[in-house]
Amino acid sequence: MEQDLLNDFGVSCGLVHPGTYDGAWLDATGEPTLASICPGSGELLAEVRTTSSAEYERVIEASTDVFRRWRLLPAPSRGEYVRRIAIELRRHKSALAGLVSAECGKILTEAEGEVQEMIDIADFAVGLARTIGGSTLPSERQDHRMMEQWHPLGPVGVITAFNFPVAVWAWNAMIAAICGDTVIWKPSEKTPLCALAVTRIVAKVMEDDGWAGVFNLVNGKRQLGESLAGDSRLPLISATGSCRMGYAVAETVGRRLGRTLLELGGNNGLIVLADADLELALRAIVFGAVGTAGQRCTTTRRLIVESSIADKLQRRVAKAFGSVKVGDPLDRSTLLGPLIDQNAVDQFVRAIDSVRSQGGEILCGGEPIKRPGYYVKPTLVRARPDMPIVGEETFAPILYVLPVADLNEAIEVHNSSRQGLSSAIFTSSVTSAERFLSAAGSDCGISNVNLGTSGAEIGGAFGGEKETGGGREAGSDSWKAYMRRQTCTINYGDSLPLAQGVEFPV
Ligand code: UN1
Repeated sequence: MEQDLLNDFGVSCGLVHPGTYDGAWLDATGEPTLASICPGSGELLAEVRTTSSAEYERVIEASTDVFRRWRLLPAPSRGEYVRRIAIELRRHKSALAGLVSAECGKILTEAEGEVQEMIDIADFAVGLARTIGGSTLPSERQDHRMMEQWHPLGPVGVITAFNFPVAVWAWNAMIAAICGDTVIWKPSEKTPLCALAVTRIVAKVMEDDGWAGVFNLVNGKRQLGESLAGDSRLPLISATGSCRMGYAVAETVGRRLGRTLLELGGNNGLIVLADADLELALRAIVFGAVGTAGQRCTTTRRLIVESSIADKLQRRVAKAFGSVKVGDPLDRSTLLGPLIDQNAVDQFVRAIDSVRSQGGEILCGGEPIKRPGYYVKPTLVRARPDMPIVGEETFAPILYVLPVADLNEAIEVHNSSRQGLSSAIFTSSVTSAERFLSAAGSDCGISNVNLGTSGAEIGGAFGGEKETGGGREAGSDSWKAYMRRQTCTINYGDSLPLAQGVEFPV
């Protein structure tokens, strides 16, 4: 069964595979390995060799070298490679989704959605390759023209998390590639096989044409991420993960005045007002809280509900949580798969202990499930906004119910979070919805009306404020983060007027 899932990518169950790619696979056999454990069973899938320091140097040099040529290829031609990658991803969609499901534990339909997200961003990037450009601006000087242009930036370091082991790389890599950058990917140490599979798919497209080395791979633990962050040959580090990781990356990159694109944690709130369509809200709440076993950065963690309907809504949510089918993520009937590892289960247990000691009431769930793998019950907690645990992002399906008096209090409670990624309101009042979206409303990067907090489309800019890190990835004009802006002024007259009317006769 496991071997079937790995076949498409030339990975053998239980064996050690090279984990470094710079246009060719490198394999310094003395280096330690990363074990890929299937969270659904707790069993070893295969191992991936970490990148040695000599290999790291090779990767950086190769990606810098390839960058010098890649940046000169016309953007639409770069887009043509991304188009071919999108075709390959379509061909491998089902196999790659199976591997994502086996290695990170998300249920199959969500894993398929994740691969679809890769295809979508690739398609988006292909179009973008013909539209990225700057504006022409009026010059204050006679016979002058001023314009902005965007140039490729350089090799970009992309650090990704286990919970979206392939899509977040694609958001970065597909856009960076059409912008003329090369990419060095450091995947999560918990999902090295997904990265291996994606690199193999992409390498096939690029190697045929001599562009191997546009998409590179390194593998390792936290130390490797620190090396990338501290490496001044990488003008941009795009990092997805915990706030703690984000603080460290921002500090290291900031010390060398490099750029960061950070997409960190979220403690996302969903407001339900008394005039909401509760059927709609219920479905969004359950998917938002239980989807990906509560391990999305967009997961709904706080249910902020008008007091008059709080009891009724929490009863319905508890009932729905109780009927969610837990089990093997590869089984089509499963809705809740495992957490990523034992450590995640321990954190869940610690959070539940805190809930109890801080006076929260557990309405359902609240314990791990005894079976092989790392499963916990979907958990609903009646809580208060001032409980410290409510301010923590626990990567697990725990939802806090926070009753409030009205919209004003709802917005206040909502914005009291240290992070600001995704938010939602359920209401049938246009006025309430618009107030939630106004400057005095939600302080998040993503704000939805009558739909949940997770499952954003790639066409919009994705990211958030405050401790979420401020970066924007994927759609809209996020591509600008991967390029350098140049302001150019051209004099086509026969005198040299100075700006601001300065006179300087020589
Ligand atoms: C993440 O959890 O890191 O909006 C990304 C969503 C997905 C992406 C989540 N499209 O839930």
